[in-house]
Amino acid sequence: MSQHPLIEKFTRAGQGQVFAHWSTATEHERAGLLVEAAEIDLQEVERLTRALLRPSAAAGVDLDGLAPAPYERHPANGGERAAWHAAKAAGEAALRAGRVAAFTVAGGQGTRLGYDGPKGTFPVTPLRRKSLFQVFAEKIRAAGARFGRPLHWFVMTSHANHAATEAFFAEHRWFGLDRHRVHFFRQGRMPAVDFEGRILLEGRGSIALSPDGHGGSLRALARSGALDVMAGEGVDILSYFQVDNPLVRCVDPAFIGWHVLGGSEMSSKMVTKAHAAEKVGHFCAQRGRTVVIEYSDLPAAVQQEKGPDGELRYRAGSIAIHTLDRAFVSRMAEPGGGTSLPFHRAEKKIPTVDAAGNPVKPERPNGVKFELFVFDALPFARNPVVIETLRADDFSPVKNAEGADSPETCRRDQLRQYGRWLHSVGALRADETGHPGIDLEVSPLFGYDDDSFAASWARRTPAPRVEHGVYLE
Ligand code: UTP
Repeated sequence: MSQHPLIEKFTRAGQGQVFAHWSTATEHERAGLLVEAAEIDLQEVERLTRALLRPSAAAGVDLDGLAPAPYERHPANGGERAAWHAAKAAGEAALRAGRVAAFTVAGGQGTRLGYDGPKGTFPVTPLRRKSLFQVFAEKIRAAGARFGRPLHWFVMTSHANHAATEAFFAEHRWFGLDRHRVHFFRQGRMPAVDFEGRILLEGRGSIALSPDGHGGSLRALARSGALDVMAGEGVDILSYFQVDNPLVRCVDPAFIGWHVLGGSEMSSKMVTKAHAAEKVGHFCAQRGRTVVIEYSDLPAAVQQEKGPDGELRYRAGSIAIHTLDRAFVSRMAEPGGGTSLPFHRAEKKIPTVDAAGNPVKPERPNGVKFELFVFDALPFARNPVVIETLRADDFSPVKNAEGADSPETCRRDQLRQYGRWLHSVGALRADETGHPGIDLEVSPLFGYDDDSFAASWARRTPAPRVEHGVYLE
């Protein structure tokens, strides 16, 4: 009996187990399997298996010639004020010219938070319980109004959360944004494999596919046509941030300006590591290029090294905020252009089926997922610029249900940000951490950074009463 050509192709590649339950599968299951199988690049899987799974695979990361990456110090930490002013002016000019779009990667699975639904729909603000998406939408709206050019916003979703994400925006009328300027596109998927490189099934009629990592955003931007939309709209700079960080300055004039004035193709923000063992990637210089070395790949002794000034040498921590040129993304996304990002392997507990097709929930890692990381594009970028930002202004992610980087810590950091803004206009006395001592909330439409907050405050006469439970809008 002749077989479906895809089944033959998989069998020839040693991946025939994908169709192990074909003979007993329903029509629906068969159709689903074929669609998923057609999405898989078997040569890529074979290449990754050889490179990342086999015992001969090169272990460890290349640390040869590593040095700390140079970065622009924030004015609060000794950076040159005039240079930051010039950068801010250049960034504002780019925003006024409509050259900048916001870009959110929201395709992750959010397993650590354990929230049912796309992570961007998670309620995050202290009083109004606004979702992450609403916070970004309002910041983007306010920045568009401030610079006289409504911004385009690109949102990368996954197969799993695309429909729910679009529905959420529609239900909330795109949070007051022009719906034609909000663009959703799906990222790619990769199959999970067992430790021998055999593609795993998730069910009898479905392959264990998962999002291909935030680095998949570069090829997804190209494949989805998003880059063409940008070109048509005169957008040539992308302001990249992650969906789980409501403190982020979605479009930061100074950052955009450093990128533009530096002639950079990809720029990044860093924060000073809180302590040597903090689990963040490190901006490093290596053989004339800028690279990010993950905390797990940089030996502890190196992480602890101090310079003559007593500061950690490798203190530049990555917080996943970047500015990217559209043309650079386009170049990075060209297949075979010699600039492809490397895949990373992550050992995971991957729900699968046994030989009889019964579901198995493994208790320890049973296979590997392959992911691309966006910071791996940095070494390919011309003139990469790294600038320092302050955590308090830009970074408080919601990663875990409890403990560090949780809804609770993020709530506190939002309150501290409001507290600092209010303190600086003399509206209350915040404690030394910025905490206002009361619960309150500032709408991004009132203020989304120091400047916009101060401008709104100055316009209000009489000044709003600031008391427990107040919502400034
Ligand atoms: P994380 O690395 O925190 O992963 O993603 P995650 O999937 O959201 O959460 P866990 O690890 O399962 O708990 C950082 C950012 O990158 C996006 C996420 O949506 C988040 O904004 N991301 C991650 C993608 O867009 N696609 C991916 O494939 C992975």
